[in-house]
Amino acid sequence: MQSFTPRQLPTYEHLLAALEQECQAFRESIDTRRVSNSASSLQPRELTEQPGGFEIFRQVFSTEIAPQLSASNGGRYWGFVTGGANPVATYADWLVTLYNQNVSKGGDSVASQVERQAIKWITELFELPAVFEGVMTTGATAANVLGAMTARQEIGRKQGIDVAKVGCKELEYTVFAATPHASMVKALGLAGLGQESWVQVACEPNSEAMDTTELARKLADCRGPGKIVIASAATVTGTDYDDLVRVAQLCRQHQAWLHVDGAFGIFERLLAGPQGKTQGIELADSITLDCHKWLNVPYDCGIFLTRHPSTLFATCNVDAPYLANSDAERPFMSLGIENSRRFRALPVWATLLAYGKQGIRAQIQRNVDQANALANWINLSDGYELNKACELNVVVFCASGNNKLDTQAVLAQLNESGQVFMTPGIWQGKAVIRCAFSNWRTEMEDVELAIAALARLAS
Ligand SMILES: Cc1ncc(COP(=O)(O)O)c(C=O)c1O
Repeated sequence: MQSFTPRQLPTYEHLLAALEQECQAFRESIDTRRVSNSASSLQPRELTEQPGGFEIFRQVFSTEIAPQLSASNGGRYWGFVTGGANPVATYADWLVTLYNQNVSKGGDSVASQVERQAIKWITELFELPAVFEGVMTTGATAANVLGAMTARQEIGRKQGIDVAKVGCKELEYTVFAATPHASMVKALGLAGLGQESWVQVACEPNSEAMDTTELARKLADCRGPGKIVIASAATVTGTDYDDLVRVAQLCRQHQAWLHVDGAFGIFERLLAGPQGKTQGIELADSITLDCHKWLNVPYDCGIFLTRHPSTLFATCNVDAPYLANSDAERPFMSLGIENSRRFRALPVWATLLAYGKQGIRAQIQRNVDQANALANWINLSDGYELNKACELNVVVFCASGNNKLDTQAVLAQLNESGQVFMTPGIWQGKAVIRCAFSNWRTEMEDVELAIAALARLAS
């Protein structure tokens, strides 16, 4: 029987030639490919004993997989908050795979230093105090998990409990939040604090931002030790920012840990500076942000920052002889969830190096202008209602009474067209359409195309 090992696989020259063809096909298809493909299906296929070889994979990929992939990396995918992989980061990501470093315990290559420098650059980009350190994660969800776990560790420390070592059976805690992202709720569950155990703080009228007067009252009424406040910068539907200066003051007064989820909202700081809507985020104990959203690097890449790196270390470190570390600095495997870790810092480092603060700021501004263009049209149209003034890059709207379709039907038909993709949401109890601009490829013509499609559906 013929055997087939990686040694018999094609040379890099062969792979590069194949990749060049794929890149060409991708580039040619990106404007016409369906932006979302809900009707995709994969043929059942048995795992064979006999090797198929690279050419089989290539052929099946180009005939069965590639045609069914969506243009989510293109300029008209506006669901969730989805970034596109910028060209420099794409190239860097290819190198990540080529070199396949394990950015784990450090000491065996420069990769950990690149990650440290990229995190330092990120704190500089967002004008955060140098005291913040952190770790790159698979995304904002994983960063929120670290936020919940590090907060848990710190409140445990104050109660004489090393939660990482002995668990949280004896831990007393109360978590406060107004409009936490679903991933934050998931994180509370994963951290053993409970998806349903947090105390709901009311929101400001017609907003998803926290009512800080109520937070003050709730914190004062809470007699137990171990308080954690989860704040938003910004919320995923209304793009509302909690008053972080006030929230931070209250947290300090009540010895509460403050975690701020700034997955995409922190990018507002690049336009408005530290005195804008994110003012106060620099006072947080920990911060979540996402690079695979508005920094436009490939999945999977988020960042967890904290001003208490030793607490993060106490949360994630485990001693084992084979993991002994020769690096003078804390190894990344002791600052995060995974031991083995992708060199995901390189695309971030490359993006910051190649585009600079100015290039990144300009990209954010472009997306904000695009969101405003759509919001302005909706505001003036008969067929639609803008549910909320456009705060940043997210437009929230619904079908008006003059529209022949209801909101859900508009969204279904819009997405069915395959030309644009938006996602549903709920605003103040009402079904809405959310449209988030965060891709470097988006042009004003794309917005005009969406406007034309919306106009057609309304008439
Ligand atoms: C505010 C906020 N937090 C967390 C997340 C989760 O991010 P990810 O999907 O990268 O884990 C999102 C995603 O949209 C978000 O908007």
